[in-house]
Amino acid sequence: MEKLLIEGGYPLEGTVQISGAKNSAVALIPAAILADSTVTIDNLPRISDVQLLADLLEEIGGTVELKDHEIIVDPKDMVAMPLPNGKVKKLRASYYLMGAMLGKFKKAVIGLPGGCNLGPRPIDQHIKGFEALGATVTNEQGAIYLRADELRGAKIYLDVVSVGATINIMLAAVRAKGRTIIENAAKEPEIIDVATLLNSMGAKIKGVGTNVIRIDGVDELHGCRHSIIPDRIEAGTYMIMAAAIGQKMLIDNIIPYHVESLIAKLREMGVKIDVNDDQVLIHNQHEKTGVDIKTLVYPGFPTDLQQPFCTLLTQAEGTSIVTDTIYNARFKHIDELRRMGANVKVEGRSAIITGPTKLQGAKVRASDLRAGAALLIAGLLAEGITELTGLEHVDRGYEDLENKLLNLGAKVWREKMTDEEVQQVKSS
Ligand code: EPU
Repeated sequence: MEKLLIEGGYPLEGTVQISGAKNSAVALIPAAILADSTVTIDNLPRISDVQLLADLLEEIGGTVELKDHEIIVDPKDMVAMPLPNGKVKKLRASYYLMGAMLGKFKKAVIGLPGGCNLGPRPIDQHIKGFEALGATVTNEQGAIYLRADELRGAKIYLDVVSVGATINIMLAAVRAKGRTIIENAAKEPEIIDVATLLNSMGAKIKGVGTNVIRIDGVDELHGCRHSIIPDRIEAGTYMIMAAAIGQKMLIDNIIPYHVESLIAKLREMGVKIDVNDDQVLIHNQHEKTGVDIKTLVYPGFPTDLQQPFCTLLTQAEGTSIVTDTIYNARFKHIDELRRMGANVKVEGRSAIITGPTKLQGAKVRASDLRAGAALLIAGLLAEGITELTGLEHVDRGYEDLENKLLNLGAKVWREKMTDEEVQQVKSS
């Protein structure tokens, strides 16, 4: 196990290139199962979740070639191999194997997914969708068993606006008989990305990006080539970092439209931002004003940026209130920020942050991916050295993190954890 050491206090400057979207990649790779010939996906982020999914496709008989930023999946020899345990448990997005394998083979056995612990993360809406399409779904000893003689299009109203359920139902419905309508669908850009891939494979999906999606089932899907959209959450993380400790930072290879809610909030704090076609330039701004944020489904402020944004707010003047309406327990970063000197408390679904405060380096642990991003930014701001553990979470979502940071002038390096430190983590 490794830890990241961060020597804080060095202003960042320069350009950072944003990678392909994690939350697209983890759905696009399972989507390749649905094709009958080779699917090539590029602008692929090289993160651990991608490697796990590539391994899982090989486990079910796929031929998978992972190149630099490209994955080539030949699904011809894939079979409906049960995957009740093992790597499926290590990531959340393994639930997309349910929709994809059900859609292709009319059956699947998939262990309940792992991923970040953000409080309860039910998949009842996914299951409701699969059942509406004609599948029988049972939960046996921690694995979901899905089976259908035939999948038939249906009208499905989502009780909760869910990214995962919207994508999973699309995956199961593209090869079903007849028309499926998903009402109260989620509108995130990653959903549009998945539909673009499926349509390039020959699917007939309309309405993505609105809250009603129509899918006319087809009998076959063919291979194609697809390029993943830029990661708006990675982009947002670097934008927040720039606002916190940047001299002048260019965030390149992004779709600024996808981070509009963040741009609006940063401007409200007094941060100067120039927006170009595919980049944003964040100017140095020492004095920032506190703001309130409330996370919402897209195009609202993303829950995935709430945690790093909390760190930024510790540097802003006044009291800010951060309310997470998507995940009520996504505040595990707060105790760690307090250990670094932040003036923050949690009340119900909100964090109340008073600033500005000078942060101090400390030994902190990332409990989940975006908590890791929050603590990383805190470490860059802090006086002294911060030791960040829990890197297995951070590596799930941020490609080439150290090199990107080193290029911006940060002082960061990885070290192996001592046996004693590993023991402490395991017993905590
Ligand atoms: N929900 C239900 N029932 C369901 C599905 C969701 O009650 O069947 C609830 C959830 O508990 C949550 C809300 O609906 O309160 C939204 O959940 P959603 O299904 O949209 O989340 P997800 O698909 O599991 C994806 C991202 C998350 C991101 C959320 C919200 C992937 C693999 N994960 O999760 O990303 O936070 O959407 O935007 O796409 C991250 O990248 O750090 C991350 C956690």
